[in-house]
Amino acid sequence: MITGKTAVAGVTGNPIHHSLSPILHNAWLAAAGIDGVYVGFDPGAYGFERLVNGFRGGAVRGINVTLPFKEEALRLADEATEAARRAGAANVLLFPPTGRVLADNTDGLGLLRAFEVQAPNWSADRGPVTVLGAGGAARGAVAALLLAGAPQVWVVNRTVQKAEAIARALGPKVKPLPLPHAVGALRDSTAVINATSAGVGPGGGLDLPLETTPDGCVVMDMFYKPVVTPFLEQARGLGRPIVDGLEMLIGQAAPSFEAFFGRWPPAEVDVRKLALEATGQ
Ligand code: ATR
Repeated sequence: MITGKTAVAGVTGNPIHHSLSPILHNAWLAAAGIDGVYVGFDPGAYGFERLVNGFRGGAVRGINVTLPFKEEALRLADEATEAARRAGAANVLLFPPTGRVLADNTDGLGLLRAFEVQAPNWSADRGPVTVLGAGGAARGAVAALLLAGAPQVWVVNRTVQKAEAIARALGPKVKPLPLPHAVGALRDSTAVINATSAGVGPGGGLDLPLETTPDGCVVMDMFYKPVVTPFLEQARGLGRPIVDGLEMLIGQAAPSFEAFFGRWPPAEVDVRKLALEATGQ
C-alpha cells in the first residue's frame, strides 16, 4: 500500500517507458516488505537538469540514470564516488536531505556480477580483455575491468581517437585499436564485451571475426533486447561461453536498490524471470 511515508525512487532516461528497472525494484520492494515505490520519470520538455534539481533535498531518495543522461548526471552532481569519476558517468544519483546531489556508478559492479553468475570460471586477472566501443558504456566497462585486475584492456573502436581518450583517462593498461585491426585484440582475449550501440554479428552493424578468439573466450553483449543478441548467437555457435546484458542490468540494480532503500534486495525473487516475462521472452 502507498502511504504518506512511502519512499520513492525511480529511473530516468530517454526513452524511459519501456525500462525494466521498475519491474526489478518493485518486485524486490514487495518481497522485502519495504514501504517504497520505484517509478519511471520522463524528463519531458523541461529536461534532465531541471528534473535533477527538483529532487534535491530528498523528495525522491534517488534515481537510476540511463541513456543518454549518464555523463550529464556526473557533471550535475556535487559529489561523486571514485567509480563514477573513473567511469566518467553516473547511473545512480542520490538526494540526501542536505540538498546535495551524490553520483555513483554501479554499472561496473553489474558487469562483473554478470560474469560471476554466467561465466563463473572466468576472472578478470587471467589475461587481456577486449571492449568494443569507446562511448560512456565502454569507458565504464574498462574502468571496472581494470579495478577487477585485468592486466590489459583492448579498446576497439571505429573512431580510434575516442579509444585513445579512454587510454589517456584510465592509464597504460588500456590499448586503443581501430576496428579493422580487431583481430590483433581478439586473438589473445579472455573475454570480448560489446559496448557499442551498433548491432554486432551477422545481420547487425559490426561484423567481427569472433572465430579468431581463443577457445573458452567469454563473449558478452551489453544489449539485452533480445537477451540473446545476434552477437551472442554467433558466439554460441562457436561454442564460446556467453554473458548477457540482462544479467548486467540486474547486477547494477542490486547495489542501486541498497543505496535507495538501505538494504540488499532479497535473494529469493527471480527478477530475471520477471524481466524475461515482461519482454515476452
Ligand atoms: P554509449 O554512451 O552507450 O556508450 P555512445 O557514446 O553513443 O553511447 O557510443 C556508442 C559507441 O558505439 C561508440 O563507440 C560508437 O563508435 P564511434 O565512436 O566510432 O562513433 C559505436 N558505434 C555505434 N554505431 C556503430 C557502427 N555502426 N559501427 C561501429 N561502431 C559503432
